[in-house]
Amino acid sequence: MNELRLPIADDMHIHLRNDERTEHAVRAVRAGGTGRVLAMPNTVPAVSNGAEAENYRRRLQDQGADFEILTTIKLTGRTTVEDISDAAANGVVAVKQYPMGVTTNSDDGVTDVRPLFPIYEAIQDKDLILSLHGEVPGVFVMDAETAFLDSLHDICRNFPKLRIILEHTTTAAAVDLVKELGDHVAATITDHHLAITLDDVVGSKIQPHHFCMPVAKRPGDRDALNAVVKSGHPRFFSGTDSAPHKVEDKETACGCAGIFNSPFHMQFLAHHFEESGMLDRLEDFTSRFGADFYRLRRNTEEIHLVREPCTVPERYGPMVPFRSGQTLNWSLR
Ligand code: NCD
Ligand code: ZN
Repeated sequence: MNELRLPIADDMHIHLRNDERTEHAVRAVRAGGTGRVLAMPNTVPAVSNGAEAENYRRRLQDQGADFEILTTIKLTGRTTVEDISDAAANGVVAVKQYPMGVTTNSDDGVTDVRPLFPIYEAIQDKDLILSLHGEVPGVFVMDAETAFLDSLHDICRNFPKLRIILEHTTTAAAVDLVKELGDHVAATITDHHLAITLDDVVGSKIQPHHFCMPVAKRPGDRDALNAVVKSGHPRFFSGTDSAPHKVEDKETACGCAGIFNSPFHMQFLAHHFEESGMLDRLEDFTSRFGADFYRLRRNTEEIHLVREPCTVPERYGPMVPFRSGQTLNWSLR
């Protein structure tokens, strides 16, 4: 097979920022074969209510975004039940929860889920999605996702109709639990977590462009992520977590977490899925399962991938893209 015609991709987890990185982050979306995104709210300042979400969407369009933008708001200790209904009225589709201090701009994040139960109730009532960065602050980094799984279970038990997404899932334990929890719980999987392990971050050399939260885990965890995608499980779908940081904020003594993978997203996934013998799952993973879980119409616009070498550049604006300097087997025409 030398050509692939697929529906344009959905990216159900992307960081487009709100500063000088934004024009590059926006340009990267269509470059990587994506036509609809869920824009994360951890900008500075954060997107925390419906009006701010709508303003953010407009600013992204002003910066050239020629793709569909679905919006989120950030869930903090200050979020009110009114914020949730107001968000729903403004077309917001998901409410994003961050663990306090674990990742970029998360100092106002959450330490304990129980006090948020009234907010979860409102999210469930409005039929919005609860989008979880599932790690526990203060827990050893390799165990921080697994430590969150009890909270995930607890939320599910108490809110049986709430649709929940465990974002950027990295562990075999999380895959097992999401499968077990049933139809209202799903998970996104990033491009990079299908490909790298902790060895690619700190195994022999420090590779700051492979550092993100949650950190890439063990080979067995990576295998579990690939296996669930290969099995065609409909509650596991693509969210790149593409998170641009300027090169000087990555290549430094105290670097930021985040991998910028959106500019070559579909080229990379075609390459990876083919190498992993699961090219037949690419369309479901990138353009069907996410839309179905979010109850959106499926994308109809097509992209055209061809088997031609595609070398990822060293820089993309002020960022270093994932797989920079490497050659992928598929190009977008
Ligand atoms: C993200 C960012 O930089 O905004 N970083 C990351 O490592 N994934 C935030 C996040 O999703 O954790
Ligand atoms: Zn993210």
